[in-house]
Amino acid sequence: QEVHAAEMERTFIAIKPDGVQRGLIAEIISRFERKGFKLVAIKIVVPSKEFAQKHYHDLKERPFFDGLCDFLSSGPVIAMVWEGEGVIKYGRKLIGATDPQKSEPGTIRGDLAVVVGRNIIHGSDGPETAKDEINLWFKPDELMATKPLSREEIA
Ligand code: PPS
Repeated sequence: QEVHAAEMERTFIAIKPDGVQRGLIAEIISRFERKGFKLVAIKIVVPSKEFAQKHYHDLKERPFFDGLCDFLSSGPVIAMVWEGEGVIKYGRKLIGATDPQKSEPGTIRGDLAVVVGRNIIHGSDGPETAKDEINLWFKPDELMATKPLSREEIA
């Protein structure tokens, strides 16, 4: 059921298996927290290859599709939903350009990654994908309500 009153902007962010394996979870979360965005859902999962293919369905025709899906399903992923004004676009700014060779210093990929096949983090690229990806990765009751629930609403 619907639990949040105001529709605050939300985006899907995932720390990919390379980011988890390298011990960058806290570093990445801390950058989103310090900016002022709010964490409204988080879990650790190893996605199946089929699930990875669903997540990246837009890229089916790309030559790297199969490798990318194998990679996403190769280990634990930290799946998150972050909330805040402008979080979709600014989240992408915090992440930096897709190719870490082109991402600016100060961005997550600019500071922490070297090659595109191992770029440690994913972020939704627009409002539609954000909605789709949040729905793919999370059930509605796994998301924090924007407003604390009253006793009546919980019961
Ligand atoms: S697009 O369609 O070219 O603009 O794609 P882009 O948004 O740059 O990237 C989409 C996702 O594909 C990943 N990617 C790659 N993976 C492996 N090898 C190569 N060469 C490659 N190029 C792009 C890229 O990291 C994006 O994944 P996410 O998880 O969204 O970062």
